Amino acid sequence: MDIKLIEEINSKTQILDVVSEFVDLQKRGKNFMGLCPFHDEKTPSFSVSPEKNICKCMSCGEGGNPINFYRKIKNISFQQAAVVLAERAGIEVKKQVVKKDPNENLYKLMDEAAAFYMFNLKNSKAGQVAFDYLIKRELTTKTIEHFKLGYAPTYGDTLYQVLKDKGYAVSDMIKLGIVKQSDNGKYYDLFSDRVIFPITDPRGNVVGFSGRTLSSKEKVKYINSPETIIFKKGQLVYHLYEALSDIRKSKQLVLFEGFFDVISSYQAGVTNGVATMGTSLTRTQAALMRKVSPSVVIAYDGDQAGQKATDHAIPVLEKVGLKTEVLVIPEKLDPDDFIKNYGADKYELLFSQYLTDPYQFRFNYYKQGLDLTNSNDIKTFKSKVTQMLVGSDPAIIAIYKNKLAKILHIKSEDIIVKKTVQPTVIKPIDREIKEKFVDRLERSERYLIIVMLRSKQDAINIHSQLSANDYSDPIISSIRSKVMSYYQDHDIIDIDDFKDYLTHDQRTYFEKYILTELFYTNHVEITKETYQKYVINMKNAAEKRRVSFLKDELDKNGYSNIEMAKEYNELLAKTKKNGGPNGN
Ligand code: GTP
Ligand code: MN
Repeated sequence: MDIKLIEEINSKTQILDVVSEFVDLQKRGKNFMGLCPFHDEKTPSFSVSPEKNICKCMSCGEGGNPINFYRKIKNISFQQAAVVLAERAGIEVKKQVVKKDPNENLYKLMDEAAAFYMFNLKNSKAGQVAFDYLIKRELTTKTIEHFKLGYAPTYGDTLYQVLKDKGYAVSDMIKLGIVKQSDNGKYYDLFSDRVIFPITDPRGNVVGFSGRTLSSKEKVKYINSPETIIFKKGQLVYHLYEALSDIRKSKQLVLFEGFFDVISSYQAGVTNGVATMGTSLTRTQAALMRKVSPSVVIAYDGDQAGQKATDHAIPVLEKVGLKTEVLVIPEKLDPDDFIKNYGADKYELLFSQYLTDPYQFRFNYYKQGLDLTNSNDIKTFKSKVTQMLVGSDPAIIAIYKNKLAKILHIKSEDIIVKKTVQPTVIKPIDREIKEKFVDRLERSERYLIIVMLRSKQDAINIHSQLSANDYSDPIISSIRSKVMSYYQDHDIIDIDDFKDYLTHDQRTYFEKYILTELFYTNHVEITKETYQKYVINMKNAAEKRRVSFLKDELDKNGYSNIEMAKEYNELLAKTKKNGGPNGN
């Protein structure tokens, strides 16, 4: 898009119109003022100047011309913002100036599928049963429409047929996981007889679905789309896009555990709710939330599992800079049940009366169920509280040391909170030197893990050539086993999700040595020929190791073990032919 066009769009768009969609403004002299939508504040510092046609926060500095404001507040690209505002201003933008997203056809296909499910909810006989189920759960038609809920007809290939008739490629349907192929080659729909929840990415594209069973007998309550190139559960937040303008207005979002909590809450007036989809909160998800809001309320279920998940979520949210609060729902209810039992008004009241801060929440949670006259319980409680305080503000540390001291009848000076250890930052030059000393072999092994993370097919190929013994580093070998077991039920590795499968040690190694490398090599093409060299390297080195092991054994025990001696001679001949351990 050229500068002239951008200038035209900006000048024909009234900044006042754009901003007042998201901020309540009051006139102050020539300008208008309101609460900044980009940070948390109590007195207005967001200023809009109709004369200059710009806006700016006097406190955090965010703002800009109409296109800039719009892209930031909607969390979209500059191009996308410009196109929307151009349309509103009646300016024609030629289609070819807008860069196409390479996944555009996949989004279109998913849109089509979402429309199919919606149509079935309203217009099919079986869909009527699903519709009645939603009504029984007290959802209104308006709510059902806002969430674009749908229904997948019972086992068959209706969606497949409809999409095929519309000219979509079967390979794309398979790629997106909504159609599967049976052993006898027939295509069938993934979802069957389920209520469908479309899931959008932060830009509003439908990228996946979740389907809820209608029967209380069915064991699997929800089925999700598999991980695909556009659907990565650990990098998506349910209802984030749809709630965007309400989140901006309230400068807060509410994080729930379940789809139904988001939906019932929305209907009860809490419209800024989002959820993760059954997996524990990831750093990426927290970062997505931080991009659109300065603060968050965790409103997980009131039961034990919900509290445990809250304990996990707090540091993840705080690490990205979100101000975090916890809603403690009385009687261990989940939000959906609370609304059902006590109504929307009481529910909204909870948000002013039952909020607690993350320290108070954890202090109570850690104490729960413990007997503080039992020495083991005392140890557990003390260690959890001191652990929670590591890296906290000194004022908070002081308060909680006192609380702990009182409960345990000790002096608060006797409670020691560890100072945070600053992670050692390896400067580029240090890293270079360090890398030189890293065994070449270890680098081959790491490199192959990266190849395996990038493609399932390559992973299977590499795995078939190398056994556990071929790895010199047990930690790398153990990570490679985790990769293979992850691929058993996934086609693509979602790194955030994958990390949850690793043990502490594996994870530490993975984050330190593999993750950055993975990102650096993200755009580099890796061919079979390149990585095959590394496989050969490792095999040769492993044989060398075996030879020296056999030699030691034979030297120790004399050459009485004929099997061993035979293997030794054979391997020795072979490794001599192949050269050194690294294959040169
Ligand atoms: P209802 O039980 O109908 O009220 O649904 P809910 O959305 O409240 O679900 P629940 O609180 O039981 O679980 C929270 C979230 O975990 C759900 O919204 C799903 O995202 C996920 N989840 C629950 N059960 C399953 C399951 O069987 N499989 C998968 N993959 N995810 C599930
Ligand atoms: Mn529920």
